[in-house]
Amino acid sequence: MGDPVREQWVATAAAGKSFAEVGGLWGTINEQVTVAARAGATATTMIDMVPSDGSDENLWKLFCERAASLGVTDTTCVQGSIDDPETVQRVGSFDVVSCSGVLYHCPNPLSTLRQLRAITRETLILGTASMPETVSNAAGTVSVETGAALLVPALTQSQRAVLGQWLREIGGVQALGVNYPMQTDWALDDYGAWWWFFTRDYVAALLRIAGFEVETVASYWEGRATLYLARTAGSPPPPAS
Ligand SMILES: C[S@@+](CC[C@H](N)C(=O)[O-])C[C@H]1O[C@@H](n2cnc3c(N)ncnc32)[C@H](O)[C@@H]1O
Repeated sequence: MGDPVREQWVATAAAGKSFAEVGGLWGTINEQVTVAARAGATATTMIDMVPSDGSDENLWKLFCERAASLGVTDTTCVQGSIDDPETVQRVGSFDVVSCSGVLYHCPNPLSTLRQLRAITRETLILGTASMPETVSNAAGTVSVETGAALLVPALTQSQRAVLGQWLREIGGVQALGVNYPMQTDWALDDYGAWWWFFTRDYVAALLRIAGFEVETVASYWEGRATLYLARTAGSPPPPAS
């Protein structure tokens, strides 16, 4: 889900500001920390729940190698889930936060956005998989109302077939629970699973409730994901317990 618009937004927002990315490790090449650092961020932090296991495939190691190759060597690395109150207390807050490819993997997205609000002082750049109100392909049609969202564990077989095919069309062949077998039976701590198909307006409403004002919206991943530039509004939520 790489996207030049996201990089532009991150570079513009992060210049002269402290910056953190949440969930930037998978695939590594889409990480935004080096984009922010090279644009003049004053400090950068990577937060991801992937464990540091010492193997050759260690994503933290790959990220550090990539950052070093791009001349970025002073990033703070924090292993933890954004949904964990302890992570939020540990990291503090940042002027600018970028989080993409994460929200639809979170079983409680409003709670996740409130956690992101707690660590964001000014600007959140949020990217998430999303769906238009109507998806049609050889497997059939799925239609929802504006502002709706579909919970993947509740999909019918025919909805799952249409949405699974829609992701496969652009190379999304391992969407766990949609077009790829689950490792768990919808355990609430399974962040590999694809929990949600959100419409664009659903996420905009969640952002407002969580304490952000949405300023700009853009589509990416061939219409299967939406990017939100949001500014903080009001006071941050009290820490979750
Ligand atoms: C699908 S990848 C997205 C990678 C990249 N940001 C992108 O847009 O291509 C999801 C990443 O978010 C991390 N992640 C998922 N849920 C998370 C959570 N609750 N807290 C922190 N990281 C999380 C995963 O470990 C993984 O590195």
